Amino acid sequence: MSLTPPSERLWWKEPIERVELLWVGLALLWALIMFVMMPYWHIYGKQNLSNEAYRTTPEQFSKKVDAMVEKYTVRKETARGYPVVAPPAGSDVYLLGRLWEWYPILELEKGKKYRLHLSSMDWQHGFSLQPENINVQVIPGYEMVITVTPNKTGEFAIVCNEYCGINHHQMLGRIYVK
Ligand code: CUA
Repeated sequence: MSLTPPSERLWWKEPIERVELLWVGLALLWALIMFVMMPYWHIYGKQNLSNEAYRTTPEQFSKKVDAMVEKYTVRKETARGYPVVAPPAGSDVYLLGRLWEWYPILELEKGKKYRLHLSSMDWQHGFSLQPENINVQVIPGYEMVITVTPNKTGEFAIVCNEYCGINHHQMLGRIYVK
């Protein structure tokens, strides 16, 4: 039942208005352009990273993070005593996201290749490397692996760019490249 029912009850049998057809056509065209942009941007824009993903659990993943932290911590930083971890060049490095922090702080070497593993302990988070334009979804239950070769030295911030609750805006992390 409707407050203002169409005068012609069998409205779906009416011919489509030309303007409406034009809009449907434009929307379809735009959808196709956006679709083609995905592979295009992967190849020419060097975005839409090709990465690997594996199933995991928060328990399994945090075990790997803890093992790395235990082995390669070089110092502690910030008021909360975050470990700064410097794994050997070419190795697998692990970073976890959880409400509301990135853990631990990583220290990498310029020009060396690493396999960066990302996962979440709870909610969906977004790994956004600043000031570079690198964004990866971090999803609980999945381990994303990206091969990275830092090409600049300095201090990089990790910002969470997926809304994850009341302290989302404070979910920051740090990567050093030396
Ligand atoms: Cu984590 Cu927003």
